[in-house]
Amino acid sequence: MSTSTLPRHIAIVMDGNGRWAKHRHLPRIAGHKAGVKAVRETVKFCVEHHIEVLTLFAFSSENWRRPAVEVNHLMELFIMALEREATKLHKQNIQLRIIGDRARFDEKLQKQMANAENLTANNTGLKLLIAANYGGQWDITEACRRLAIDVQQGKLAPEDISAELIEANLVTADLPLPDLFIRTSGEQRISNFLIWQLSYAELYFTDAHWPDFDASELKKAVAFFANRERRFGHISEQLRAENHA
Ligand code: FPP
Repeated sequence: MSTSTLPRHIAIVMDGNGRWAKHRHLPRIAGHKAGVKAVRETVKFCVEHHIEVLTLFAFSSENWRRPAVEVNHLMELFIMALEREATKLHKQNIQLRIIGDRARFDEKLQKQMANAENLTANNTGLKLLIAANYGGQWDITEACRRLAIDVQQGKLAPEDISAELIEANLVTADLPLPDLFIRTSGEQRISNFLIWQLSYAELYFTDAHWPDFDASELKKAVAFFANRERRFGHISEQLRAENHA
């Protein structure tokens, strides 16, 4: 696969852990555990293919509404995964970032998140973003709040607020925007993921449940991306002319 047709930033809604478990008459948390394996495989693929950024939706702001036992199990799983994986990620030169409103997580988890981020902060390989208590509306609201403070303090004029400035205040400010969005398990929704950042992304949906999502599934998604013509509002002829310029 040529690198020019590879996405720079892949964003994934990892859906279907619960359904995967249900089909096997297992508790939902078994599905989440199996999901961790799929995370590892996806990270490996991205490292091998020199993808710049991988963003995974691990826990949305709405997921707190799930039964308490499931939320608690998920928190334990995140703690365990951070404990086990942080040094492995570091060895692979991966930079880990957790995006989302972390204040609501318990202190132990918040500390582990900060430790893992600090450990990997200077790594130059894949940037792995884990969205935890993240919501796209929250991200945009926070950006607007920051700009409002600048206006209030006289550092910014309201007429100077632009799309670029809002974008520069999102959690992804220093990164290429996602160009490939993947959602597993048949649903065709964005679910308040990176709603601003996905404006021009190619959207790929598969029926595979997240625990079954492996390198061959990811290859299919990347091949779908390679076959798309990304026009950004232009018409095909303009792009062809540019390519031959
Ligand atoms: C969606 O499946 C999955 C989640 C809400 C949790 C995702 C978490 C993991 C894959 C575990 C580990 C992640 C990291 C980054 C260590 P669902 O429960 O909504 O499935 P359903 O729609 O079939 O019920």
